[in-house]
Amino acid sequence: MPVKKITVVGAGHVGEVCAQRVAEKELCEEVILIDIVEGIPQGKGLDQWESAPVEGFDTRVIGSNDYEPATGSDIFIVTAGIARKPGMSRDDLLRTNAGIVESVSKEIARVAPNAIIIVVSNPLDVMAYVAKRASGFPRERVIGMAGVLDTARYRSFLALELDCSVEDIQALVLGGHGDTMVPLVSYTSVSGIPIQQLIPQDRLDAIIERTRKGGAEIVAFLKTGSAYYAPSAAAVQMAEAIAKNKRRILPAAAYLEGEYGEDGIYLGVPCKLGTGGLLEIVEVELSDDERAALGNSADHVRTTLAALEAL
Ligand code: LAC
Repeated sequence: MPVKKITVVGAGHVGEVCAQRVAEKELCEEVILIDIVEGIPQGKGLDQWESAPVEGFDTRVIGSNDYEPATGSDIFIVTAGIARKPGMSRDDLLRTNAGIVESVSKEIARVAPNAIIIVVSNPLDVMAYVAKRASGFPRERVIGMAGVLDTARYRSFLALELDCSVEDIQALVLGGHGDTMVPLVSYTSVSGIPIQQLIPQDRLDAIIERTRKGGAEIVAFLKTGSAYYAPSAAAVQMAEAIAKNKRRILPAAAYLEGEYGEDGIYLGVPCKLGTGGLLEIVEVELSDDERAALGNSADHVRTTLAALEAL
């Protein structure tokens, strides 16, 4: 199996499905599922392990309320925190989730000082910043999940529009994980065919708008929480790229040190992921409009970060 141990922190909907996906893909020998609620990670972990003979995987799933079983984990997927309810923005979660992500990151640094952290908790770009600061890890080992999810939503809507396979749609969504995200039409194609040759601009604009509000669309349906099937699939694709050293180029939140003209914040950009975590940030050419949209998204992340520092 690619690595020894992957730990998922938070056994809510996103976390439990992450653990299941990691186990079913046999990305590691052991998946540790951690949650503070007594019995929940143990029960869900055991239930998943009992599915192993049917699904045919040998990755053990172990639930725990403390971090000791996570000692020496190669990768952590951090999903801990409260989720959105209808009418809430991701930023409304700021205070509560910052406290949770900070204490989780300190525990990770204690039991697995060489681990790679994939942050999923919202507001994503700021929670990745909190995880980096609290763990003391370098930027190579703290990455945020959002771009893969936002791009997946965009690709799924384009596939519906064209009635074609999702596999043939390549796309890139950059920026912060929120309404200011930047789907890049110039980097969207269907098996190499530029998307603008296939979909009229007004339909494309509608799909981009739906992508930006994709998370809220699910929250409005579910009412008691936010999406989890697509978010967990996205986080696990990043974990897989790292565990298998695939060197995939995926949109993810990375700590920028001058790339794309930004410094000192996390923002969604194309990242090469493999052993060691973030191997490279790929800088692509942007039109003036796209650059302005990315700058606007960065400003939003900076405002949220400032709100956190002011709390
Ligand atoms: C969403 C949440 C996970 O976009 O941020 O569904």
